[in-house]
Amino acid sequence: MAAILLKNLQFKYPSSKTWVVDIKDWQVPAGEMCFLSGPSGCGKSTLLEILAGIQKEQAGEVWIGTTEMSRLSPQERDRFRADHLGYVFQSFNLIPYLNVFENVQLALEMSPHKKQKVASPRAKIDELLRSLGMSDFRDRAVTELSIGQQQRVALARALIGEPELILADEPTSALDYDHREKFLQLLFQEARKLKSTVLFVSHDRTLEKLFDRTVAFSEISKGRT
Ligand SMILES: Nc1ncnc2c1ncn2[C@@H]1O[C@H](COP(=O)(O)OP(=O)(O)OP(=O)(O)O)[C@@H](O)[C@H]1O
Ligand SMILES: [Mg+2]
Repeated sequence: MAAILLKNLQFKYPSSKTWVVDIKDWQVPAGEMCFLSGPSGCGKSTLLEILAGIQKEQAGEVWIGTTEMSRLSPQERDRFRADHLGYVFQSFNLIPYLNVFENVQLALEMSPHKKQKVASPRAKIDELLRSLGMSDFRDRAVTELSIGQQQRVALARALIGEPELILADEPTSALDYDHREKFLQLLFQEARKLKSTVLFVSHDRTLEKLFDRTVAFSEISKGRT
């Protein structure tokens, strides 16, 4: 089964002159760790936002597993994302008035579906934070964190609740070597355990050998901006 299946997908922003994303046919098999590369501005983040139902395509079909995103209402897409996806945004999107622990917990509070999958939420959140070297910051305001620390909180939030699909947008760009290793180890370990699919966007080509497959954005999309 495909975790992601795209057919004749076309998307542009109101101000775009041509399609930003224009993909005839592409799929990611369930359980695959896929590395997506491409130059700045080519449309990688936009594609991830379409997959997550944050942006809506003008044409084509977007399937996440057996769900056709294109047919869902905006509310249904929000629910689907909260229940089934883990998303590390390029800009993290942490909630400034919640502390580190609460930011991770929020993924469960937003989704009863995720919450019922985690037997001991507190213990699981603490375990994720520990794996990422963030235990000492558990009760710290996220506004007081460095960029790399915020990236690690964003990963913990994406991994909690056993998401079927993990979308990660430049998630290691601010991390030093050791923290990057920890970050990737945890991502791979959790994804393998859950048999989750991972679509990982990065400029860092040294990471691509760790993945099952590398895809260049230009191979799948003929859009120009
Ligand atoms: N909200 C928006 N409104 C209009 N155009 C946008 C918007 N967001 C992105 N774009 C444009 O769409 C194109 C693709 O942007 P996108 O953010 O998907 O690129 P990217 O591949 O993720 O780049 P980077 O590697 O720098 O993160 C760019 O030309 C960008 O200027
Ligand atoms: Mg981007």
